[in-house]
Amino acid sequence: MIHLVLQEKLQQAVLALMPDADVSSVLVRPCPEPKFGDYQSNALMGLAKRNQLNPRELAAQVVEQLDVADCCEPVNIAGPGFLNFRLKTDALSDALVGAAKGEHLFYRTAAEPRTIVIDYSSPNVAKPMHVGHIRSTILGDTLAKVFRLLGHSVVTDNHIGDWGTQFGKLLVGWKEHLDRDALGRDALAEMERLYKLTNSACEEDETVLIRARSELVKLQSGDAENLAIWDEMIELSRHQFDEIYGRLGVDFDETLGESFYNDRLKGVVDELVTQGIAEESDSAQVVFFNHHKLLKKHPAIVQKSDGAANYTTTDLATLEHRQNSWQPSEVIYVTDGRQQLHFQQLFELYNRWKPGHGMKLNHVWFGAILGEDGRPFKTRSGEIIRLSGLLNEAEQRAFDAVSEKNPDLPEEERRDIACVVGIGAIKYADLSGNRQSDYVFNWDTMLALVGNTAPYLLYAFTRIRSIFRKLGDESLTRPESFALAQAEELTLAKHLLRFGLVLELVIDECRPNYLCNYLYELAGHFASFYENCPVLQAEGDIRTQRLALCDLTGQVLNTGLETLGLETTERM
Ligand code: ARG
Repeated sequence: MIHLVLQEKLQQAVLALMPDADVSSVLVRPCPEPKFGDYQSNALMGLAKRNQLNPRELAAQVVEQLDVADCCEPVNIAGPGFLNFRLKTDALSDALVGAAKGEHLFYRTAAEPRTIVIDYSSPNVAKPMHVGHIRSTILGDTLAKVFRLLGHSVVTDNHIGDWGTQFGKLLVGWKEHLDRDALGRDALAEMERLYKLTNSACEEDETVLIRARSELVKLQSGDAENLAIWDEMIELSRHQFDEIYGRLGVDFDETLGESFYNDRLKGVVDELVTQGIAEESDSAQVVFFNHHKLLKKHPAIVQKSDGAANYTTTDLATLEHRQNSWQPSEVIYVTDGRQQLHFQQLFELYNRWKPGHGMKLNHVWFGAILGEDGRPFKTRSGEIIRLSGLLNEAEQRAFDAVSEKNPDLPEEERRDIACVVGIGAIKYADLSGNRQSDYVFNWDTMLALVGNTAPYLLYAFTRIRSIFRKLGDESLTRPESFALAQAEELTLAKHLLRFGLVLELVIDECRPNYLCNYLYELAGHFASFYENCPVLQAEGDIRTQRLALCDLTGQVLNTGLETLGLETTERM
């Protein structure tokens, strides 16, 4: 964790000169151009500006205070005041020796662990999970894993949509048109059919709409029959969600759906009204954000004119519950970008309702999944693509590819590999892009063996594993130092050392694609190392050191892939 050592020393040097400075923004980052150095800090320029100092002079003074000679070449001041650090080979060697002894894997767990609540997946009951839910599920699960790897404590909560107006229509459909056999075969498809049926009936016939409303009122006032049906719908939905989660290898600490907060909603609205935050407008209770630049035009309704609470009210109650139960330092919501306004309103409202709550409220949003035609990803006939079918297809395609490449492997093994590769490919395609961009779903790209894909990384891992299979029973010797005389060894070693920094960047910005890029580059550096530096044919210390580099690369790759929720395989 050399970057942390550098960063701490840099902060100390700044404090020695300016005891009152806020050094939290004095950070050390990878140097974008290897020819200038390994790490870089641009923080002094901002600091100089804030204090009306000449940046290069400040940089020179800081460098004078800075004692990093044990791990770096003399620090170089570049351009308007960048500091560039180049690691000494001895320092690299020490870090590698420590890792080879198992003392660390190039990251350090947080000195002050935080508690983070992550709200993700959160599908709606009685509707099949579709491809849109996969992004939230996969992103959220990976974020939870990275936070945990860095020693933070995470509560994952699946805020399923198990309450709301759709149940009025569903109840009418259920009571009047339920096909029990169809329900047994595919519960969510049947519930979806019932919903659509009633929904279009409502459009044509007012009386159906009236029936739906009255069924909803009955449900909300605790009618036993309707509650029993509602329970059954939830049970059936959860069952299918769990099947998908099982295949994706995702689970949750909590699944507190919207209905969990029903009893609290009235109280929330009352408090908002008494505190003067909400006011009546057209018989609804509304919150206006008159002094907010963006939200000024978007008041939030917390109680509709018919007296019913809504999504916002439920989210307020949910956040209150999270604050009281876990006192998190941060709450992260992973949903698509269309909910940005909702979360801006929610956070602003919560700040008013509970001033000084001290939690960082973070909407981590993502773009859409598009089809080849650039439109939202749908089936040919325009239906929403269901997740279960998509996962089946991924496994089938991976199976065909593996069978073509390795026809001699037993079928069972090919099936297992296909599962790892197929599911991994879908996950990785989702994680490896900038989450805020839309991405085009393409089987050939995500299953390609070259490029920034799951198969490429999984294959790189199998190559490392095969080196160790060739070693047979020979046990690994731990090197006492690393010479790193060849350029490719040096590059690989430096890249390994950055693992921790990348993990920190991932949680700072909730962007797993940083980790994907890092692993992709790692695999590339490893490939050129392996091409240019004989390992098994080398002798003596060099052989020991190179084997250790292979082993450490394998460990980082494995940990990285695991953190992205990918399983690995010995062969492909
Ligand atoms: N059920 C919602 C949907 O499918 C997502 C819920 C996100 N979480 C939250 N606390 N609002 O759109």
